[in-house]
Amino acid sequence: MESPAISETDRERPPAAPAEGLPFDPLLRAGAQGRATGFNAIPEIIDLDRYPLHQPGSPRIDALLREGRATLEQDALFSLPGFVRPEAAAFMAAEIEARLPMACRVQAERIAYYSDGKDWPAGHARSVTHLSRYHQVLNHQISNNSPLRRLYCWEPLREFLRRLMGYETFYRSECPHLALTAKVAGDGDTDGWHFDGNDVVFSVVLKEPEQGGRFEYFPNIRTDKDENYEAVAAAFAGRRSGLRSARLAAGDLNVFQGDHTLHRVSPVEGNRKRVVGLFCYDRAPGTNFGEPYVEELRRQMPGASRPG
Ligand SMILES: [Fe+2]
Repeated sequence: MESPAISETDRERPPAAPAEGLPFDPLLRAGAQGRATGFNAIPEIIDLDRYPLHQPGSPRIDALLREGRATLEQDALFSLPGFVRPEAAAFMAAEIEARLPMACRVQAERIAYYSDGKDWPAGHARSVTHLSRYHQVLNHQISNNSPLRRLYCWEPLREFLRRLMGYETFYRSECPHLALTAKVAGDGDTDGWHFDGNDVVFSVVLKEPEQGGRFEYFPNIRTDKDENYEAVAAAFAGRRSGLRSARLAAGDLNVFQGDHTLHRVSPVEGNRKRVVGLFCYDRAPGTNFGEPYVEELRRQMPGASRPG
């Protein structure tokens, strides 16, 4: 199912001036700046010379799809360096950082797995916990005229990713909270070791930190048939053999399959934040995230009342 029909006229309409007495929304200002300085048209956002997604039948796109499928199979991570132009990435990062005061603050010790309901002994890979700590800006907090949303909603990108994954159908999520999100990690923030519960994650790096914040992963450390707990526990204990470490740079579009690949984002060091946009798609139309998960996010928002 497609997004609600919004005419280009509506999209381009300048934001109304703030009414007397109402707080001025910094993102409306950011949007207005976007119109003045660019980043409204896809060629200003994506480096189409390098990645001509608007020419889906071109030899360059065929080669990219072949390379991407082979890389994903072997390495679980396929990066398109410099996909987003540097100035556009910096603009989007500033928009996201302007939303930090209202963002969720996630801070939790988590095991690397989705719970199977069993009691695993202390020290087992399934019982070891890892800190996850970062801010998350949710879909409804991201401006409708943000270039990041324009990128997410651009049909040739969705179609390129569908072909890359070999899916017959592929839809943007309609979740008002999680369709388009961004993670922001400051000094000491990290995403602890874990496996993903979904097939694939699409992200675009908008800003990189001075130090740390590296994407570390053990490609295909487990399979459907073999959990390989010994190797996973060794990784938690500091084993580096088989570890891949990627310095994902601002502007990179990343496709990552994390269901069999243990991964984390190492702690960010320094005052410069790591900012990453996350695009959610689904093979089925009209899917939403479960309310318990969304409710958990609401509890992590500033001003949310907490039980007890
Ligand atoms: Fe993950």
